[in-house]
Amino acid sequence: MTSAMPSSSPRHYLQFSDFTAAEYAHIFARALDIKRKFKAFEKYQPLNDRTLAMIFEKASTRTRVSFEAGMYQLGGSFVHLTTEGSQLGRSEPINDSAEVISRRVDLVMIRTFEQTKIEDFAADSRVPVINGLTNEFHPCQILADIFTFIEHRGSIAGKVVAWVGDGNNMANTWLQAADLLGFTVHVSTPNGYEVDEKLAFGGRTARAGCYKIFSNPKEACQGAHLVTTDVWTSMGYEAENEERRKAFANWCVDVDMMAAAQPDALFMHCLPAHRGEEVQAEVIDGPQSVVWDEAENRMHAQKALMEYLLLGRQA
Ligand code: CP
Ligand code: NVA
Repeated sequence: MTSAMPSSSPRHYLQFSDFTAAEYAHIFARALDIKRKFKAFEKYQPLNDRTLAMIFEKASTRTRVSFEAGMYQLGGSFVHLTTEGSQLGRSEPINDSAEVISRRVDLVMIRTFEQTKIEDFAADSRVPVINGLTNEFHPCQILADIFTFIEHRGSIAGKVVAWVGDGNNMANTWLQAADLLGFTVHVSTPNGYEVDEKLAFGGRTARAGCYKIFSNPKEACQGAHLVTTDVWTSMGYEAENEERRKAFANWCVDVDMMAAAQPDALFMHCLPAHRGEEVQAEVIDGPQSVVWDEAENRMHAQKALMEYLLLGRQA
């Protein structure tokens, strides 16, 4: 084992761009090994006696189950907090919460609304903070998605990923990943729901050719190695539901769009999915879909992430 990261300057995972390409190569390799151990019923508990606090200000199935099960399997335990069930819902300042919670646990995962909220928490946290989804980003999901792509097809560098739908937290995170890992995202969103390049790249100039905008979703899928989408209405935007249903009607990934992609293109969706809205049932339940592997891999990828944040590079 190599040395643990110094607790005085914790490393956080708030956006995909927080790690380098070399760090991702390491984490993907670790995820593969950790997954193999899990499948072989091989005990691997490097986080014995460590505790993860999870703060959910929005609903979750996959994120909660994957972090809870993953932390338990690594030998640690977890604390589950919600807005309503904690003082967060009674206006305790986020910085005070960070001071208090991070003195009792070794890692914190937060699912919340504005990215600034998780950044504020991290600023006063004594331990690493992981973004479990914000309005702006969903890095743990893209970590699992790229790990899934690598498992099925090898390196994602040089490949084309088609994003069809809302320019949301998932889309912003795909842009960051494409910039960092050397692939291209073809983005097609309805007018008024575009990705926020400024937000995704933090004002920096992105790598030339890392993304391309298409007004026609089928054209975005042309030649893609992976086609992916997400709900039309993300958590926190429910008031816009009806308006969005109209605007997104042509942004449903269907068999025609899949036919425009590479013959062996994969289909991914972070889930939960709405068949007949953002994706046709024939696609998500069809042979090119890897959504169940993708969902499973959240756990393996996040175990590698937690190991890395707490213990640094492992052999
Ligand atoms: N994909 C995802 O984050 O799922 P949950 O909202 O169920 O956690
Ligand atoms: N974009 C979706 C992802 C859910 C996992 C949302 O933020 O609700």
